[in-house]
Amino acid sequence: MEQHRGMVRWGISSTGNIAAQFADAFSRAERGRLVAVGSRTQDRASQFASTHQIPRAHGSNADLAADPDVDVVYVAGLQPGHVHDTVMFLEAGKNVLVEKPIALNVAEVDAMTAAAQANDRFLMEAMWMRFNPAHVRAVERINDGAIGEVRRIHADFSFALPYDPDHRLWNLETGGGALLDLGVYPLTFAWWILGEPASITAAGIVADSGVDAETTLLCSWPDGATATLTCGIDVTGTHTARIEGTGGFVEFPAPAHATDTVIVQSGPEREEIKETPPSLHYQVAEVHRCLATGEQQSPRMPWATSRAMIAACDGVRAQLGVRYPSD
Ligand SMILES: NC(=O)c1ccc[n+]([C@@H]2O[C@H](COP(=O)([O-])OP(=O)(O)OC[C@H]3O[C@@H](n4cnc5c(N)ncnc54)[C@H](OP(=O)(O)O)[C@@H]3O)[C@@H](O)[C@H]2O)c1
Repeated sequence: MEQHRGMVRWGISSTGNIAAQFADAFSRAERGRLVAVGSRTQDRASQFASTHQIPRAHGSNADLAADPDVDVVYVAGLQPGHVHDTVMFLEAGKNVLVEKPIALNVAEVDAMTAAAQANDRFLMEAMWMRFNPAHVRAVERINDGAIGEVRRIHADFSFALPYDPDHRLWNLETGGGALLDLGVYPLTFAWWILGEPASITAAGIVADSGVDAETTLLCSWPDGATATLTCGIDVTGTHTARIEGTGGFVEFPAPAHATDTVIVQSGPEREEIKETPPSLHYQVAEVHRCLATGEQQSPRMPWATSRAMIAACDGVRAQLGVRYPSD
């Protein structure tokens, strides 16, 4: 196991919203220590380090990569930078946990997994929903047949954000758009339960800035199962998920991707799954487990799934006419 006195030493790359949430949740992770943060500016790195009691603050991500006392880097910057930063950290011998979406397109995912292989390092996309206790238990109940054969899935993640081409979600340069930021959660519900769809038909609205403002996906599987998945940054959605089967249904109330409560209606029986609240530290535990066993990727969020999901998003964007500068 990569460790120092029994501890896996972590660095955080970038100082935004999710980086702060990660630092707050990290104290609940066993056998890990936050030892460094890297930012594009020394001021932000120092401020973040002071707020979160992190010993070392680096004024560039290259300096974080060169820090010999870091075993794993959490890449929490914006999606256009994921490929560059992840490859840099892997080549510097770090293991990497990288925020969702892992990358903007499949060529970038391939570059990242190739770097992990070439440098024999661990890499995982931080799709935290897959590690939330309520979601894990609900999927187990579905796989155990609690609702019979799964036939339909409806999942949404949409909110109305005023149009502002400078906001990261409305801006192509910062990897904005509903699909890659929000749509990957409804897609994960469907993918986790039914696997890769055989076909995806997309419709939506592209904003003047070029990002997708609203996207609706109709997915189908060879056995006839279907999923209707919606995401949007200019529309108020229910932010719920509902899995319907031949013998019942499962409801994930809002916020579906981050709930601690799930309803399982199995025939006449109504069961409420209530688990500890979602937290970013559960995925840290999985990284530690993989490092301890020498696994280069997690079976719960393998490279092939990350790749196939981004390939599917590439196909959806082609249908909508959304292109990022790096495509
Ligand atoms: N898992 C989740 O629940 C969740 C939630 C929200 C977001 N995310 C993902 O996490 C990533 C970051 O999202 P966020 O909400 O934390 O974003 P944010 O608050 O805007 O922070 C992004 C950070 O990225 C760095 N950065 C690099 N290039 C940048 C650029 N050109 N413009 C602005 N900032 C840039 C900045 O850090 P420095 O200035 O320190 O370098 C900035 O603080 C995205 O990939 C997003 O999809 C995940």
